[in-house]
Amino acid sequence: MKFANKKILQCTLFLAIGLSAASNALADKPLVIGFAQVGAESEWRSANTASIKDAASKAGVTLKFSDAQQKQENQIKAIRSYIAQKVDVIAFSPVVESGWDTVLKEAKSAKIPVILTDRAVNVTDKSLYVTFIGSDFVEEGHRAGRWLLERSKTMPAGDINIVELQGTVGSAPAIDRKAGFEKEIATNPRLKIIRSQTGDFTRAKGKEVMEAFLKAEGKKINVLYAHNDDMAIGAIQAIEEAGLKPGKDILVISVDGVKGAFEAMMAGKLNVTVECSPLLGPQLMQVAKDIVAGKAVPKRITTLEGVFPAEVAANEFPNRKY
Ligand code: AHR
Repeated sequence: MKFANKKILQCTLFLAIGLSAASNALADKPLVIGFAQVGAESEWRSANTASIKDAASKAGVTLKFSDAQQKQENQIKAIRSYIAQKVDVIAFSPVVESGWDTVLKEAKSAKIPVILTDRAVNVTDKSLYVTFIGSDFVEEGHRAGRWLLERSKTMPAGDINIVELQGTVGSAPAIDRKAGFEKEIATNPRLKIIRSQTGDFTRAKGKEVMEAFLKAEGKKINVLYAHNDDMAIGAIQAIEEAGLKPGKDILVISVDGVKGAFEAMMAGKLNVTVECSPLLGPQLMQVAKDIVAGKAVPKRITTLEGVFPAEVAANEFPNRKY
């Protein structure tokens, strides 16, 4: 009897040691995040990808990364493969706002938390994602509009004709930046959007669409509002090729605040850029760790940003990180 008791005690001890070793091994196991990126369409996007990869390696996170080449079906495929691989967390920057319900339900059934970065999704069931980290795109549109309202006070009397280069059709930044800007300029009836078309957030498309705007409207155009710096930079080329001076004959307003925009401002070709920070990597890693550790995280984490008019570009340029 005595012998049997000793044996039971020994077995319990071995079991306890075994369990604690297993749980230590689990605790030491690096967190695995599957990240489905939009693509590589802009200087902003490249900086965003670099920030996420760099932050993952600094945080000891194993990152599975995919580039959807701006196609929603590729992002959905990537998310499904992360579910099959049983990653700890799925994060993605949705190329467009709608059409995510099914795949997000699959992630929820697999008990894999989802973090949205940069862009929002349009789903009725908000429990399909844990949190959304990114900019307030509507406010960015307002900021661009407010700059123009101020500037319009110094412009000659009469209509101020605006052409707008929209981002990717159906994407959150395109929808929101348009809405915020329109709401702001509606307070001054002189400000009129005469043409508005997508340039898909790329330089090449921005140039191509601006060429078409110039062909159709010529010298009637007073202002270009581009939803990102890359399209503005492409459009600046088109304006110059049409024999006009960007930044003077046509005021140029854009969003992002990438180094290329600061260079264009220092060259007098771009008037203002509204900041949209791509440096979301460190926040993403921290939030992912918090979620896995069972800590509560806010449903919305908004990035703090500024506005940079050409007058401050030379001073600010050395401080730019992207
Ligand atoms: O979603 C953020 C937007 O996407 C950036 O403004 C743009 O440059 C990028 O491609």
